[in-house]
Amino acid sequence: DRRKRVTIVGGGNWGSAIACVVGKTVKRQPEIFYPYVNMWCRDSRKPGDSSESIAEVINRTHENAKYLPGRRIPENVIATSNLLDACEEAHILILVVPHQGIEQICKELNGKLLPDAQAVSLTKGISSDGKKLKLISQDIEDALGVKCSVLMGANLAGEVADEKFCEATIGCKSIEEQGNILKQLFDTPNFRIRVTTDYEAVELCGALKNIVACAAGFVDGLGWAYNMKSAMIRLGLLETKESYFESCGVADLITTCFGGRNRKVAEAFIKSDKPLAQIERELLNGQSAQGPPTADDVFEMMELFGISEKFPIFTAVHKVFHGKMGQDGLYDAMRTHPAYD
Ligand code: 13P
Repeated sequence: DRRKRVTIVGGGNWGSAIACVVGKTVKRQPEIFYPYVNMWCRDSRKPGDSSESIAEVINRTHENAKYLPGRRIPENVIATSNLLDACEEAHILILVVPHQGIEQICKELNGKLLPDAQAVSLTKGISSDGKKLKLISQDIEDALGVKCSVLMGANLAGEVADEKFCEATIGCKSIEEQGNILKQLFDTPNFRIRVTTDYEAVELCGALKNIVACAAGFVDGLGWAYNMKSAMIRLGLLETKESYFESCGVADLITTCFGGRNRKVAEAFIKSDKPLAQIERELLNGQSAQGPPTADDVFEMMELFGISEKFPIFTAVHKVFHGKMGQDGLYDAMRTHPAYD
């Protein structure tokens, strides 16, 4: 049996939406893929809680009522709360958990995967050891000993699940070994995939645009003008440097600055006195926006290398979230941006 088995690691908003995609693509290509997809969902119940786990709810109703309500997850997607059961026979692991969860998952899976397994990370974030930044895909490769590609793009989860047209970019090391099979796995008439070997740029775009989306959310929350929001997005793109003309670059930036969770929590944060964690609880039903921790990691590195002044938007987002900058500082970050020097 040469069919590839696919497992989704993560049952959040994006994990559930991607389950809608790959549940269908594996079924459509039975000669290439095993027609069932495992999906690991964290069991977030507190001890003593006798309600169903998310995995049980998905298997019974084919819907993730908590994180992707109203969308049908195909019946050939089988959810489980047992990580090892979900992963040990997988040839392709789709990792789609918040950055905070990756380390623990890799620890549990270390040494337990098939020798020819490969991973693809959908997590938009960046990792830091206090001395340098590291790609999450690199962390995964180091921790699991398997090749890890990335998939990033302008992909608001609800729209993807609704099969509204969108595109995404896969970044991989080898088109032959990873790119082709991953394209077969993800590409549909409404979810168009492009593959590039520029995997570092793909992943960086995905991570850094979340910081810019927070800046855009601040602009919205402060009731500033459209011209200012556009300027903020352009300056943020400039700081992202890889002004990358793929979905993972410009398009993801724009979609997140208008319709993403990062924008939403940043808008609410700047309009209230509530701590970020409370806003995430209230607006995201327990999910976490990835922009604020990414801004922290990036800021730490910029300080280490003495280059924060060159990145006023990234710096401002970090400072605003930590109460070290208010709207005047944010305004100045745009007005006095080195782009105008
Ligand atoms: P958030 O909803 O986490 O802001 O991101 C959306 C996104 O990444 C769209 O591609």
